[in-house]
Amino acid sequence: MSASLQQNSAHPDGIVRGESSLTDIVLRAMAGTPDSRLLEIFTALVKHAHAFVRETRITEEEFEKGIDFLVRIGQATGPSKNEGVLLADLLGISTLVSLLNSRRGNEVTASTLLGPFWRANAPRCNPGDDIVRGATEGIPLLVSGRVTDDKGRPLAGADVDVWQASPVGYYENQDPDQPDMNLRGLFTTDNDGRFHFRTVRPAGYPVPTDGPCGELLHAQKRHPYRPAHLHFMISASGCKTLVTQVFADDSEHLNSDAVFAVLEQLVGNFEQYTDASGKPCATLRYDFVLEPGIRTFPTPPIP
Ligand SMILES: [Fe+2]
Repeated sequence: MSASLQQNSAHPDGIVRGESSLTDIVLRAMAGTPDSRLLEIFTALVKHAHAFVRETRITEEEFEKGIDFLVRIGQATGPSKNEGVLLADLLGISTLVSLLNSRRGNEVTASTLLGPFWRANAPRCNPGDDIVRGATEGIPLLVSGRVTDDKGRPLAGADVDVWQASPVGYYENQDPDQPDMNLRGLFTTDNDGRFHFRTVRPAGYPVPTDGPCGELLHAQKRHPYRPAHLHFMISASGCKTLVTQVFADDSEHLNSDAVFAVLEQLVGNFEQYTDASGKPCATLRYDFVLEPGIRTFPTPPIP
């Protein structure tokens, strides 16, 4: 008997005897993982991945194509774009993770995707300031709201960090025609938890389609657009930082956001009217409710 066979006979459970035996063998190989959470996650991953391969009967050619797709997702990721996050977004996984990690029900404001365009250190603003910092033509928008805790108590001194795309659908850090920090601002709530600021109505925009995720959207005959929205990150001591978006109720693609971030609760009432000089203007009133927790801040996706 050869040395290798002698070794195998000492571990008979590791010998694969047909397709049906494989999953249990892999799970047994991982069973000694000291980190119990890592063990739980990889046990589920192997079970679901093996079931997926069995259900779809993936061919070797398709398997190679899939591996190549994942490799290119990594290669397309850099300082200004995270194709991996985008893939998770386009598959609804990011929203699912967010929903499962947030308190259920409507008693607190729902969180949704941070997105790739948040920047740390937005300019600190006074109440009522305009976050338009240059020649940005658009429909003037007055945004106001109130920040409370889950008992309805006003959160005074809360930080309201807002950022948005321009009326043509570009964030300032992807558009050389906009001044630095255009359409970004950091406001502080007053003693009654209130804030307000001026801006212009944002436009919807497409997610990047120049990488493998674009190929996927094309193959699935899906459009890449997101409905118009304002991003908010609201933080106060003793509360879980709220990262969310408020969507324009009259926006194109509201019902077909490419990244599935539109939660019913987050559709804001953008009231449009005509001012005394006949120009269109709009208002948005939206209140935020934070849940108790730890105040944290994300690592900026873009340095
Ligand atoms: Fe956005």
